[in-house]
Amino acid sequence: MTIPVIAIDGPSASGKGTVAARVAAALGFHYLDSGALYRLTALAALEEEISWDDEAELAGLAAELPARFDGDRVFLFGEDVGDEIRSEAIGMGASKIAAYPAVRAALLARQRAFREAPGLVTDGRDMGSVVFPDATLKIFLTASAGERAQRRYKQLIDKGESANLQQIREDIEARDARDAARTVAPLRQEPDAQRLDTTALSIEQAVETVLTWYQSLSRSPC
Ligand code: CDP
Ligand code: CDP
Repeated sequence: MTIPVIAIDGPSASGKGTVAARVAAALGFHYLDSGALYRLTALAALEEEISWDDEAELAGLAAELPARFDGDRVFLFGEDVGDEIRSEAIGMGASKIAAYPAVRAALLARQRAFREAPGLVTDGRDMGSVVFPDATLKIFLTASAGERAQRRYKQLIDKGESANLQQIREDIEARDARDAARTVAPLRQEPDAQRLDTTALSIEQAVETVLTWYQSLSRSPC
């Protein structure tokens, strides 16, 4: 039997990670935050003094990425870098290096290795299109740019960091534009993905919707 995969793709701060992790917990499935791999590669490049413009060196680094996931925590070169990789600067770097085909290819096998029984929930930009094209359920999770900027803003304020709402919105929109314009695995809704607009939904409502869609699929005859 093939191991089920729920693939959740969408723009920055739409709630993909939060929803994916909760759906995984509800189903007892594994969870892969694919964006973390791009962020870790961008951070490792900074630490190794590899330029974000050097595709070949970056691909070599991505292939050998000395990263480890342990529950919610992420380690690079043995150090907990969970907070460091979440900065918008690293997000921009991740978006830049994610446009290189060789970097994407180098991370492919690593992502697919997360598909283990009893199932996987994963989020990113190309989970349903490239990494798990045979996913059981594909979702394009989105929200308005204004709502997404508000969510990021609140996340930063809650962490006690300073934040500028207008700047956050500009950064989010710049990153989405770069992700959507690239030629490899661009950010877009695939024809076989179901759209879930969470602008007016709570996290709980978004999670319930995904679970209902998944359960109705698992019940329907193939
Ligand atoms: O992974 P992605 O960048 O798409 O978003 P996230 O980091 O999971 O979510 C951004 C913030 O929006 C988090 O603080 C969530 O708690 C919040 N949020 C949400 O995820 N979904 C909603 N329906 C409402 C708020
Ligand atoms: O949490 P947020 O949606 O802001 O970003 P993320 O999912 O952590 O991804 C960071 C960057 O990595 C994105 O802007 C994309 O350029 C890239 N990425 C990608 O190209 N493909 C993926 N499957 C996941 C992330």
